[in-house]
Amino acid sequence: MARIIGGITTSHVPAIGGAIAKGKQDDPYWKPFFDGFVPVRQWLAEARPDVVVVVYNDHGLNFFLDKMPTFAVGAAPEYRNADEGWGIPTVPPFQGDPALSWHLIESLVAEDFDLTTCQEMAVDHAFTLPMALLWPDQQWPVRTVPVCINTVQAPLPSAARCYKLGEAIGRAVASWPGDERVLILGTGGLSHQLDGERAGFINKAFDLQFMDSMVNNPTWATQFSTHQLVEHTGTQGVELLMWLATRGALGPRVQALHSNYHIPISNTASGLMLLEPMV
Ligand code: DHB
Ligand code: FE
Repeated sequence: MARIIGGITTSHVPAIGGAIAKGKQDDPYWKPFFDGFVPVRQWLAEARPDVVVVVYNDHGLNFFLDKMPTFAVGAAPEYRNADEGWGIPTVPPFQGDPALSWHLIESLVAEDFDLTTCQEMAVDHAFTLPMALLWPDQQWPVRTVPVCINTVQAPLPSAARCYKLGEAIGRAVASWPGDERVLILGTGGLSHQLDGERAGFINKAFDLQFMDSMVNNPTWATQFSTHQLVEHTGTQGVELLMWLATRGALGPRVQALHSNYHIPISNTASGLMLLEPMV
């Protein structure tokens, strides 16, 4: 049986791509952020996942406002990055895992999640930069399954729904007859707002409570409506939905092997957690 060996949740910010391109990992501004990933990479070297299910939100590269699926799952043999206009280098293509993708899709649709299935899919900074933080040589040693959650255009799926999607992903992986070691990587958040009156808004107290809840009370954030999440975390802080889906996939109990929180990276409160399911 395939097995979820862990979950990693991290912020994604395009500026990370610029910092990598310019070799700024040890600059005082960037060091507290990049240093957070050292223990995660040590864990990865031992854990050796075969497949990564990447739960992220597309920001207009693959889906635009004219067509915006609530949940989309990739089922392509390969996923390519493309220029989003941030001035950062694109990364090499990622290998897909169509067989596991279709199994996930079949399981999720059988559980009443109405998905968009993508046999072609470009992946943006929310997918590529967290992968580059995990594997800095960008020689991806894993196959990938993209799971995309709309946090760009209202209405968004609720926190409770995203948690349930994650639980269903966990069941789908557990029912796959292969022996793959599967990592769930959720990217987005934590609190940030890029525009409007509250541009620059960050809520450290909420973020820290949310990170604690990921271990000790995983459904805590599902009490909040989308509007309440925006109020607490900013318009883009709702990207924490990706963390909730990831957490749902890990099962009822987890242990946190590592976490890091640093303000700010660009306009974002950056969070990082490495969680292992407890059986
Ligand atoms: C920033 C954060 C994001 O989540 C994003 O998708 C783009 C930019 C930022 O803080 O600059
Ligand atoms: Fe984002």
